[in-house]
Amino acid sequence: MRYKVLLTHELFSEVHKKLREKFELEIGAEGKEEIMGKIREKDGLLSFLRDPIDKDVINAGKNLKIIANYAVGYDNIDVKSAKSRGIYVTNTPELLTDATADLTWALILAVARRIIEADKFVREGEFKGWGAKLFLGIELKGKKLGIIGLGRIGKAVAKRAKGFGMELLYYKRNRLSHKEETELGVRFMDLEELLSVSDIISVHTPLTPETGNLINRERVYKIKEGAIFINTARGNIVDEDALIERLKEESLFGAGFDVYRGEPNINPKLLKLKNVVLLPHIGSATTETRLAMAKLAADNIISVLSGRKPLTPVWR
Ligand code: DGY
Repeated sequence: MRYKVLLTHELFSEVHKKLREKFELEIGAEGKEEIMGKIREKDGLLSFLRDPIDKDVINAGKNLKIIANYAVGYDNIDVKSAKSRGIYVTNTPELLTDATADLTWALILAVARRIIEADKFVREGEFKGWGAKLFLGIELKGKKLGIIGLGRIGKAVAKRAKGFGMELLYYKRNRLSHKEETELGVRFMDLEELLSVSDIISVHTPLTPETGNLINRERVYKIKEGAIFINTARGNIVDEDALIERLKEESLFGAGFDVYRGEPNINPKLLKLKNVVLLPHIGSATTETRLAMAKLAADNIISVLSGRKPLTPVWR
């Protein structure tokens, strides 16, 4: 008997092939109801971060043995329910660290140097000659970069900041050792202080019950006047409405978003702002990274359905 696997959205043909060699593979399921309908007979599920894998979905999968999420974050999955039924949950750590750190820097630079606005200006035929004050931005050298969440991605962002000659501050629930802080050249600060002194703030915590709305309205109003705010982690970590208010009144220089509350729906007020750069959750979107993530998710399914341990479990 061949095990049955549901892959919610298309991946790469070589990964489909790999899974088809071993399992009966069904591809395509959008939204909770459809996933619930298709998961009934399945032994493995390869899910995307846009798929809500809650208790109902998990309970509908009577034969389910593994949920392999095609992402490092797994806030879309009710891990507790999965664990209570002995269903493994896996993610794709490490592989996307560099791609996401690179994209964070793309956003920092795009906002600080007003790249999108300037590009639009040229395309619209507005460039009439070199100007002393044309698209003045913010110089990065000597500025303070405040990193919230100094895990793998936060550290990769910090390493890149050295090339720009920035001062590095960080906030993390569990402070790093003195040795690690020295090696990375980072200084610990409590969250409120970090928000109030950093020129650029970048969020890199996973979304968990503790980090949901971590940067609430009150904290958004602590952010330094004229700062830049970048979020490539998860929309629900930040009070987006409060941030929009500050961006609208231009008490912040600008912001870069790769993630949103309730994505893919975007707050229409955000779309109207000039001082923001908006991306469609593409932090890990390089061919190399996405392929490696897909292979790892497939390997996790192969491993568990072959009677072995998962390679990158979120619980053991
Ligand atoms: C993740 O993996 O959690 C990113 O948000 C998307 O690749």
